[in-house]
Amino acid sequence: NRRVTVRDLAAAKERGEKWSMLTAYDAMTASVFDESGIPVLLVGDSMGNCHLGYETTVPVTMDEMALLSAAVVRGTKRALVVADLPFGAYQEGPTQALRNAMRLVKESGVGAVKLEGGERSLAQTELLASAGIPVMAHLGLTPQSVNSMGYRVQARNEQDAHELLRDAKAAQQAGAFAVVLEMVPAQLADEVSQALQVPTIGIGAGPHCDAQVLVWTDMAGLTPGRLPRFTKQYAQLRETLGGAAQAFAAEVADGRFPLAEHSFN
Ligand code: KIV
Ligand code: NA
Repeated sequence: NRRVTVRDLAAAKERGEKWSMLTAYDAMTASVFDESGIPVLLVGDSMGNCHLGYETTVPVTMDEMALLSAAVVRGTKRALVVADLPFGAYQEGPTQALRNAMRLVKESGVGAVKLEGGERSLAQTELLASAGIPVMAHLGLTPQSVNSMGYRVQARNEQDAHELLRDAKAAQQAGAFAVVLEMVPAQLADEVSQALQVPTIGIGAGPHCDAQVLVWTDMAGLTPGRLPRFTKQYAQLRETLGGAAQAFAAEVADGRFPLAEHSFN
């Protein structure tokens, strides 16, 4: 009954087995996904938007990441838990990256960390990997750079596509055990997936990646408003949960709750 390891994920690629990753930000939700057999849980800095009420991932701090990562680890038995290094936690250089990654491993108990960028984060990836901390790279649309790149499909022209493939190979060479591809054309994601020995994990990157990731609040229909086209709602939790809250309030208002069976004499 051990946890999933990065070696298991490498073996899955060799066998041609596809797998899935979901984000998680708390122990309760993480335990549901763990019991459902999701092998990898990402404590994404999407917690900024989905859990902490920020508008982007940019303000997320190391303290927030450490706290929520520890909760996800406590809520799980089997999943490999991967924590994002938040914006500002690794851009200063490899030493800063190692200090913060080490905190997530030692204090929160995660099995791996993720950081955005290929070439631009290579020294960080190398140092973490050589220190024995598994690193997941994140290429294509990198939301921590929203202020310079916006939210749109990446690598649409040949030069950018070439650059992304180079980034992916460089990340693998530096020791990354997997590469997230966010919002890149499906043909390019296919090419990258075939070129790499390590698994690719797609989000808005077509069907040819070795794995797929979704943000759990999107996948479960909890996120309000219009969703990006690459996601899919497998439940309508916002409706279900809102309905439960309304039913509770209505029963209290008209005296249907609590009844004798819920009370003590
Ligand atoms: O923070 C996040 O949820 C992510 C995934 C979308 C890959 O980085
Ligand atoms: Na992220």
